Amino acid sequence: MPHTTEHLTLPDVGFGTYRLNGADGVETISRALQGGYRLIDSAFNYENEGAVGAAVRSGVVPREDVIVTSKLPGRHHAHDQALACIEESVYRTGLDHLDLYLIHWPNPARDQYVEAWQALIEARSRGLVREIGVSNFLPEHIDRLVTETGVTPAVNQIELHPYFPQADQRAYDTAHGIVTQAWSPIGRANELLRDPVLTGIAEDHGVSVVQVILAWHTRLGVLPIPKASSPDRQRQNLEAATIELSDAEVDRISGLGRPDGRTADQDPAVYEEL
Ligand SMILES: NC(=O)c1ccc[n+]([C@@H]2O[C@H](COP(=O)([O-])OP(=O)(O)OC[C@H]3O[C@@H](n4cnc5c(N)ncnc54)[C@H](OP(=O)(O)O)[C@@H]3O)[C@@H](O)[C@H]2O)c1
Repeated sequence: MPHTTEHLTLPDVGFGTYRLNGADGVETISRALQGGYRLIDSAFNYENEGAVGAAVRSGVVPREDVIVTSKLPGRHHAHDQALACIEESVYRTGLDHLDLYLIHWPNPARDQYVEAWQALIEARSRGLVREIGVSNFLPEHIDRLVTETGVTPAVNQIELHPYFPQADQRAYDTAHGIVTQAWSPIGRANELLRDPVLTGIAEDHGVSVVQVILAWHTRLGVLPIPKASSPDRQRQNLEAATIELSDAEVDRISGLGRPDGRTADQDPAVYEEL
């Protein structure tokens, strides 16, 4: 089931691009587009908006079929800097607009994410971006955006995988009509991929552990954005949304959650990324 926001229809699965840079990045991202991905994630801080734009402009698929995402870094939350940064993001891609723009981290200690949000609202009304959202925002951060600007983010992109299933944040997002996207959806291919619960379910379905994890995201109503380099992995990941897990399997996977299950120590309440 595609996810809808006021201005966009988002696919079941998107494509992560962290560490896909330069000419190799263009090739890998172009292959992903060719293979069927229609949502490409990026960020000002990944230094690859140029590679993403080149892949999209190569004409592998019609421009209007692709949702190009980027994110505002913490060092540019001040209103005018944020607008200049969004203009620069668009410029770097060589496209005339981006489709989705997110505030990358709330950086609450700096307390500038509300003015950053006002800049995103303005960027949308100027046509620089079609849809706006946030990343790594906790309920208290989103509540403030809504109270102070009256505009609810369309998307919240958060760390989410079986060791960190984020039940409370997902429930909050759903209650507010916000699409939850999952970053590091397969836990950056760490020990999660050897978990016996997951390997058992994968064996029962005759699919890979990664596919089981991505099918679980789909069942939760979450949009995962796995990054994969080879065409085979890209295809596997895209096809995972069609695997049907039982309710009991979904519950067993969600039961793997741990309070300290983050892949890195990045609690948005205190984490600073500029
Ligand atoms: N908003 C944020 O703060 C934030 C933070 C982190 C990430 N992100 C976004 O989320 C995207 C995804 O997260 P991530 O890149 O951290 O981690 P991830 O997608 O969970 O994992 C990527 C790793 O999994 C491997 N992999 C992919 N498909 C596989 C398969 N079918 N079988 C086995 N291994 C497989 C990849 O290897 P190969 O590449 O070698 O194939 C890569 O090492 C990023 O690329 C980025 O766009 C956002």
